[in-house]
Order: sequence, then structure tokens, then C-alpha cells
Amino acid sequence: MEQMRIDILTALPDLLTSWFGESILDRARSKGLVEVHVHDLRQWSTDKHRKVDDYPFGGGAGMVMQVEPIHRAIQQLKGERAYDEAIYMSPDGQLLDQPLANTLSTKGNLILLCGHYKGVDERVREHLITREVSIGDYVLTGGELAAAVLCDAVIRLLPGVIGDETSALSDSFQDGLLAPPDYTRPADYQGWTVPDILLSGHQAKIDVWRHQQAMERTRQRRPSLLPPGEDGSAG
Ligand code: 6GU
Repeated sequence: MEQMRIDILTALPDLLTSWFGESILDRARSKGLVEVHVHDLRQWSTDKHRKVDDYPFGGGAGMVMQVEPIHRAIQQLKGERAYDEAIYMSPDGQLLDQPLANTLSTKGNLILLCGHYKGVDERVREHLITREVSIGDYVLTGGELAAAVLCDAVIRLLPGVIGDETSALSDSFQDGLLAPPDYTRPADYQGWTVPDILLSGHQAKIDVWRHQQAMERTRQRRPSLLPPGEDGSAG
């Protein structure tokens, strides 16, 4: 398995460098499974104040990130290696879900562009980007948190990142269902007991029970995840 590489372009690199220095992502990096490079877009500014944004043509509130620094950044990176995707993090984008995380985890090299202020010059989206991704239907002040969320969802899927190789595959959503309940010792905590089946030692029965629990939980909490006809509605 070839190492994955993610290059993040941002006007606020400090927001991300501390995040990527910790936790599972740092572990993945020290194992040589992924490299995450955070780049300050200001280094590609041609302005003497290292500006990367300007007022919108036609007027209106907020600043717009300029096409030139972003183009120069992407051109430089593309000159150094081939990229599978250049993704703009935007509330207008395709919603991040588990299938999209799975797809992106199979890629070799990704560029993530974080918007800030009002957004980016539309020509960035027309000419420099292969995909736009949103992490949900709410508005953040910038794309940095969204990029960190996308990286977490993708990197944890890389083989070897999570200690238990099977655990990423038995997650909530990985089979389209919410996860069944888990318990650990003690089996009886002040009268709060664990379902007998989990203590029975019958693995096949436990697997069936877990699947039933996952179905039931999904039907109750997130019926739209179930195929039509299995969600309790008329279909
Ligand atoms: Cl990717 N960016 C911003 N600014 N807000 C968001 C988002 C992204 N995804 C959901 N909300």
C-alpha cells in the first residue's frame, strides 16, 4: 500500500497544524501511512502585505479569496507530483458521507482548499477544483474544521491506522446501519445489567443479535438510511 499524501491550502495554517500534531493522525503519520502538509496560502501572494483576498466585484459584504495565490499554489504542487483530486471545502459541496470517505481513502494524493471570508473567486471553482465537499447543512466561518473532519474520516480508513483492523469496517455507517450497543465489565453495575446473550459465548447468536439491534436502532433513529421498504414506511 502506497503512502497517501494530503496537501491543505489555507490562509489560517495555525488552525490546522496543532490539530494534525496530535492523536490518531499523528500515529498514522509516524507509521508512514499518510503525510499531511499544511500550506499557508500567503506564501503564494504577490501582494506586499501578503494579502490573499479582496473586495467583491459588484459590491457587497465580505471579502473574496483571490484566484492568483490559489492558482500559483496548485500549479506548484501539481508540478511536484500528480494529484487525484483538488477538493474545495464549501457548504455548497457534495455532503461528506461514509461512501465518499471510503472513495477518498483509496486515492493517492489529494489537495484540500479551505475557503474563508465570503468564499473564493468563482474562477477557482471553474478551473482549478475537481470536487466540492461540505460536512453538513450549517455554515462554518471557514473550511479548516471541515478539512480536518474530512482528513479524520479518510485517514482512519487507511489499513494499519486503527489498531483493530476490523473495527473501521464495523463502524456505524460502514454497512449503512448504525452500530449496535457495546458493553464491557462489570456485567452487573449496581443492577444495570448487560444483555445475557453477550455473556452466552454463542458467537453466531451474538452476531444475529447485533445485526438485529443495528437494524432496530437505525429504524428508530435514522430510518432514511434503510433501503425503501425496510424503513417502516410504505416505501
Ligand atoms: Cl466545507 N465550509 C464552510 N465554511 N462551512 C461549512 C462546510 C464547509 N461544510 C459545512 N459547513
